[in-house]
Amino acid sequence: MLDREKIPAHIAIIMDGNGRWAKAKGVPRVAGHNAGMMAMKEIVKASSQLGVKYLTVYAFSTENWKRSAEEVGGIFKLVVKYVNSELAELHENNVRVKILGDYTQVPKAAVDSLEKSLETTKDNTGLQFNIALNYGSRAEIVRAVNLIEKDRKTGVLDPDMEITEELISRYLYTGVENGNIPDPDLIIRTSGEERLSNFLLWQSAYSEFGFTDVLWPDFTPAEFERMIEAYQNRERRFGGRK
Ligand code: FPP
Repeated sequence: MLDREKIPAHIAIIMDGNGRWAKAKGVPRVAGHNAGMMAMKEIVKASSQLGVKYLTVYAFSTENWKRSAEEVGGIFKLVVKYVNSELAELHENNVRVKILGDYTQVPKAAVDSLEKSLETTKDNTGLQFNIALNYGSRAEIVRAVNLIEKDRKTGVLDPDMEITEELISRYLYTGVENGNIPDPDLIIRTSGEERLSNFLLWQSAYSEFGFTDVLWPDFTPAEFERMIEAYQNRERRFGGRK
């Protein structure tokens, strides 16, 4: 049974398998992403209802630009479609949207939609829904180091200040600029692949992993709850002993 008193505070998801789902159905890849967007909608709602504090989804990686223009364009059209159809309800449900990654480099219509969702929901106090978009974790760490360097040079930081883990954490996308998101307790990846693919490398130091063979468009709130339950039955030691 799911223990509703012990819901992980931060769940991150690598939504994988849209392409294989589409192939199996004989439909275009973009139709797979559309089905993936529908699955994501349900997981955002379920997260709100379960009392998850932070949900982070990997929507588009810095490596995803290598895909065809049609597929890339299709994914960003879905971002616009999602915001148009869901923003009112997200806001009603007190969800706060944040973007991790350099979203200013994506197509203009998507940037506009994303900015509208950030602005509309910025004071909400319920679930924080982080969309990792044009996100890559190594680039995120390099960016943090460069920002620290810049702040040391310009006096924002004391130039003699020691660089600590805490300082680096503050300069990541998950740091101060997005409300100091705690590290993910649970990282889920669908579709049977078992790797991080440049997602939350720094933040996942002590995360638990949950893998399922289910392709992302078929992932349901029931499967989500089952994976949270499996997480609850594990023991986390953070390098210490029992
Ligand atoms: C991975 O499946 C999925 C993606 C690269 C895109 C995920 C995007 C969405 C679910 C829509 C996002 C919408 C919003 C509003 C954020 P894949 O294509 O790598 O699948 P495959 O490995 O089977 O080919």
